[in-house]
Amino acid sequence: MKLGLWACSAFAAIMIVGCGSGDSGGSTSTTPGTTAEKPAGTTAGNLPLVVFSQANSADPWRQQFDAETKAAAEANKSAFKFEEQAAEDDPNKQISQIDTLMLESPKVLLVSPAEMSVRTAIEKAFDKGTSVILLDRGIPGDKYTVHIGGDNVEIGKQAGEYIAKRLNGKGIVLMIQGKGGADATNDRREGAMAAFKKFPGISVIQGDDCKYQRQAAQSYMETFLQTGKPFDAVYAHNDEMAIGAYQAYDHAATKPKTKPIFVGVDGCQQEVVQMIKDGKLDATFRYPDPGPKGIEVAAEILKGNKPKDKKIILPTELVDKSNADKYLAAHPGLAK
Ligand code: FRU
Repeated sequence: MKLGLWACSAFAAIMIVGCGSGDSGGSTSTTPGTTAEKPAGTTAGNLPLVVFSQANSADPWRQQFDAETKAAAEANKSAFKFEEQAAEDDPNKQISQIDTLMLESPKVLLVSPAEMSVRTAIEKAFDKGTSVILLDRGIPGDKYTVHIGGDNVEIGKQAGEYIAKRLNGKGIVLMIQGKGGADATNDRREGAMAAFKKFPGISVIQGDDCKYQRQAAQSYMETFLQTGKPFDAVYAHNDEMAIGAYQAYDHAATKPKTKPIFVGVDGCQQEVVQMIKDGKLDATFRYPDPGPKGIEVAAEILKGNKPKDKKIILPTELVDKSNADKYLAAHPGLAK
């Protein structure tokens, strides 16, 4: 299905979460222009082609990522043609989407891998001479041009330290895991575990893989609460899961007497900041959208300027009750 990116990107700047709520798995959006009678990797008017393979387009963080990437690509429409496909977080689907996109011989492949196993298709593209820009989640090895994203080990470390301090160094942390096979999940876990190690009074329950999804975390938490096992904090690898876990706790008949601490990652939604202000969630760590930087780097690569560093780290920031209003003012484009 073709999404009319004309319509989409024209409104993207004002409607940050706009075109395609729900996963657009398999969908393709393109900037205008025909592709007939063209040399490989270029389009009508001889514009080079930049393609983007998105892990999924379903959750608020990804929807914002998509909208901002499309808006940035639209601003560069005189320099290159842009196409995107999303893969419903399914690595096999993403591998075949990348293989298909590569048939168009793009000059640059932007890719946010659903899982590290997508590396097979990414490496094939890189070996073909395509510049590869990894966004957010990464792959092992070095067969890519540059990786742009947050430092998930550092985010995990900061989240762990925040929780341990809030618990005065003593308590049980339930860790709700993001998608298995994604490096972001391992890094957010390992970073936190390294921080908890310094606090002998902290113990950790390794919770289920809830795939970074609100509903999955809510169901998991409902079942967990029924066991009656004690816990003092929930560390969810993203905000959607922190919200799901909080909602299960809020509605539960049996729950800990003292409200546990709830901490997530992303900081891309007004809803989350409001829940922090209301004392429902305790903190989140901003995980910036790497899309606009990815487009900027793609445009530079097309001009012959390869990035010097293989990793471009986007900074994180703690959001809790003390700075929630300031954070909202500093980030007026947060999703609703
Ligand atoms: C969205 C998401 C974000 C998270 C990122 C990790 O699909 O789950 O919530 O920060 O992916 O790769």
